[in-house]
Amino acid sequence: MTPSKSRVTPACEHFDYCGGCKWQHLDYAVQKKYKEDQVKQALIHLGGIEKPPVEPIIGAHKIYYYRNKMEFSFHVGADGEMLLGLHVGGRFQDIFQLASCHLQSESSNEIVKFVRTRAVELGLPPYHIIDHTGFLRFLVIREGKFTGETLINIVTGRGDYPVLKTLAEEIGRKFPQVKSVSHTVNPEKANIARGEKEAILYGLDHIHEKLGEHRYRISANSFFQTNSYQVQRLYDLAVELAEPKHNERMLDLYTGTGTIAIYFSDLVREVVGVESVADAIHDAHANIEENSARNCEFVISDVADYVKNAAASEEKFDLVVVDPPRAGLHSDVTKSLLKLRPHKIVYVSCNPATLARDLKELIADGYTLDRAVPVDLFPHTYHIEAACRLTRKG
Ligand SMILES: C[S@@+](CC[C@H](N)C(=O)[O-])C[C@H]1O[C@@H](n2cnc3c(N)ncnc32)[C@H](O)[C@@H]1O
Repeated sequence: MTPSKSRVTPACEHFDYCGGCKWQHLDYAVQKKYKEDQVKQALIHLGGIEKPPVEPIIGAHKIYYYRNKMEFSFHVGADGEMLLGLHVGGRFQDIFQLASCHLQSESSNEIVKFVRTRAVELGLPPYHIIDHTGFLRFLVIREGKFTGETLINIVTGRGDYPVLKTLAEEIGRKFPQVKSVSHTVNPEKANIARGEKEAILYGLDHIHEKLGEHRYRISANSFFQTNSYQVQRLYDLAVELAEPKHNERMLDLYTGTGTIAIYFSDLVREVVGVESVADAIHDAHANIEENSARNCEFVISDVADYVKNAAASEEKFDLVVVDPPRAGLHSDVTKSLLKLRPHKIVYVSCNPATLARDLKELIADGYTLDRAVPVDLFPHTYHIEAACRLTRKG
């Protein structure tokens, strides 16, 4: 068989069996073309837009070492040895011993190696996902790409190994960029790097990331977009599409930790951010303080309830930014948004299919799709983000 001309040699030695980066063997220019086309085709076929105004994709400058968060799993190997690595593609229960990953940073690879070696020497056993025995479950590393600060979260199945604090202090001494080591206990069978109990073993309970002029707080369990470089370009694009004015009132739906709201705060009169997760709103309030963004207000609410009430009480917003999860806008949200009738909507989407579905409804009610711009936040994967500008007259 003749290999495709678009085929390139993957940078990663684990490419053949790792579950991540499945497009690494595809030339990056071709990856971008496919992704741009994915957005275009979705808007044509699912959105019913004959000639969608899709602009050239904003590709990544950095196609390796771009992620600011990685979750590595501990596992018991075939001979009982400790493994610390990533999932084997298509075999969720299997983990391979990671030599190095090209997604986060070289220093993150060094931390993985150090933790693996010292955990064995300190007698900390890996968790067994079938028997539900053992202790260490996940090593989560988060890096502020623009601040150089690193946060480590060690997730365990139980809470009773005091020597874990020794490991945390050793990590802090060996890697000066590590500002925080936290410990999360997840005694449940669900194999996720989250839990109820959280303690700080070393340093502070958070780090910072900087996007443009703004500083954001990241704690062990708070949401933050995983590609800092490209998300800054995405937020700059959102500003460009929104053309915010200093006398305008803005609504940021699905605000998470308030990142978009705060990014816009200097450019508009007032921003209201809405989010259903209380912890995220707690972080959003901390981000108000970090940025002295006194014109931001955050509300814990389901977006559907908030927009319905806002429309019923005839609240006025000049600009609405929506950044929903992959499921897109619930039809109740779209209906209420149409009653709220903001002049401008900026739709940030991580799923072209639901984006197209929602645009179809907004356009049918009188909005015009002025611009649609794909942004690649996840090189070497099929995922694609897009930001769109919609306006209505009157
Ligand atoms: C794609 S994230 C966007 C976060 C943020 N805009 C950012 O850029 O970091 C979507 C957010 O919507 C929130 N969310 C999901 N469904 C929601 C709902 N029905 N009502 C309110 N918030 C919701 C999630 O908790 C998550 O924080």
